[in-house]
Amino acid sequence: MTQPPPTPGAASAPGDSVVSTAKPNVVLGVGGGIAAYKVCDLLRRLTESGHRVRVVPTAAALEFVGAATWAALSGQPVTADPFDDVHEVPHVRIGKAAELVVVAPATANLIAKAAHGLADDLLTNTLLTARCPILFAAAMHTEMWEHPATQANVATLRSRGITVLDPAVGRLTGSDTGRGRLPEPAEIFAISQLMLADETARAAGQSVADLTGKHVLVSAGGTREHLDPVRYLGNSSSGKQGYALARIAAARGAKVTLVAANSELADPAGVQVVPVTSTRELYDEITGRAVDADAIVMAAAPADFRPADVAGHKIKKTADGSVPAVSLVQNPDILATISHDRRRTDQVIVGFAAETGDEQHTVIELARAKLERKGCDLLVVNDVSGGKVFGSDTNEAVILDRDGGALPFPSGSKDALAGVIWNLVATHWH
Ligand code: CTP
Repeated sequence: MTQPPPTPGAASAPGDSVVSTAKPNVVLGVGGGIAAYKVCDLLRRLTESGHRVRVVPTAAALEFVGAATWAALSGQPVTADPFDDVHEVPHVRIGKAAELVVVAPATANLIAKAAHGLADDLLTNTLLTARCPILFAAAMHTEMWEHPATQANVATLRSRGITVLDPAVGRLTGSDTGRGRLPEPAEIFAISQLMLADETARAAGQSVADLTGKHVLVSAGGTREHLDPVRYLGNSSSGKQGYALARIAAARGAKVTLVAANSELADPAGVQVVPVTSTRELYDEITGRAVDADAIVMAAAPADFRPADVAGHKIKKTADGSVPAVSLVQNPDILATISHDRRRTDQVIVGFAAETGDEQHTVIELARAKLERKGCDLLVVNDVSGGKVFGSDTNEAVILDRDGGALPFPSGSKDALAGVIWNLVATHWH
């Protein structure tokens, strides 16, 4: 089971080149599931962002991905056996040095062992000696996940303060689909970073669950308006900013409903996701849920127009080369409707504005007029001249307040902008 320590050459392996001891030490426990191969991507994300990562696989995990892969990617020795290098008491040393433990994939067996405090390999020993935050990303077949034994074990872990991510829905190992897939590595990575940020805030005596008790409704993505069963009018919104808003609100304790239009992104953990296609579906979902929401953030890009008629069959080319005329009708303005019809004075409504400015007006002048027109409380203004922002992982914005304030957000991740938006929403509540 023992693997040789990395050779001198491995010290300059790609995963190691940016390792800095400044970032918290992470133990990455790998369970014995096929999704172990996806955890290589998670490991790369952790090492490339500067974490020193000690991989502790189970023996079953090594059936799927060998120790040499983990050792080369982490630059650290890898073993599943607590009797290797026993003079160094590895199960205590590794657990005590950990500032975050991430277990992925967390199989039904591993979850059961952790819930009952069993310690028959290096990973389960480490889980008992670690005193840092612990994150389990579950992956298994749907039946195993839904079994009352697994559900009881997950509840036990959660009652001890361990974060357990539900498996994602999608294609499973065989030909079947359902709940059971490992959440995307990018999602697990993002949550691990939030947990570390929470830990820092807690150490500084700050509240990390300041949105607890609030229900927030967020829209994301770009709507599609069908011309026929296979063609539609759409836009290039990726949904990333709306998903970041949902993820951060959930991490800060809010109950979150995300109405998502045609996004490819993985469901954020702990968020209720309602999929929609068109602006009218988005309108129905948002207006139908508005009264229950303490805050509504319209980060989606709804199409303003839709074809007046939708063909029930695929529109065919004609022999004479004539092209069909498409006449459009206007869609409802969701943000304006919920702002003008609001039934609660304690509700905060946030809009987004993608502006380019024109010959007569600056981006901010147009945005101020839009805030007035729409009647929302805050407007997050993106200058999209030159195609900026769409699809990117970062954002640059100015947040206008209906009271006349303007807060610049110079440049940063969409998660960071989401955090600033929720801070402003919380200020309005207070
Ligand atoms: N929005 C909406 N319903 C629509 C169109 C937009 O709720 N039918 C929301 C968006 O989610 C966003 C805000 O309105 O929060 C501004 O979107 P934007 O496209 O900038 O505004 P438009 O109203 O479409 O204005 P413009 O005439 O500048 O396109």
